Amino acid sequence: MPNSSLLSLLKGKGVPIATSCGLGSCGTDMVLVVGGGDNLSPISNTEARTLAEMEAPANARLACMARLIDGDIELEVPEDSLVPS
Ligand code: FES
Repeated sequence: MPNSSLLSLLKGKGVPIATSCGLGSCGTDMVLVVGGGDNLSPISNTEARTLAEMEAPANARLACMARLIDGDIELEVPEDSLVPS
């Protein structure tokens, strides 16, 4: 589904990813890009600032902000980014 946010793609796959602000400022939905990162939309200033404040790894993106432009993506969803069961 080109141009879909990672958040909507993950939810569509049934991944119980946690969300809060939906604006790239809370960092709740941080995911790690394992492959296909070139297929994602560029990182915005807001997303970059939030990830920097979180001291997130270099391959981190915020699922509500990053959009899949084309092709495939491989992600790892950290335990902390999932809704507690
Ligand atoms: S839900 Fe807050 S940064 Fe994505």
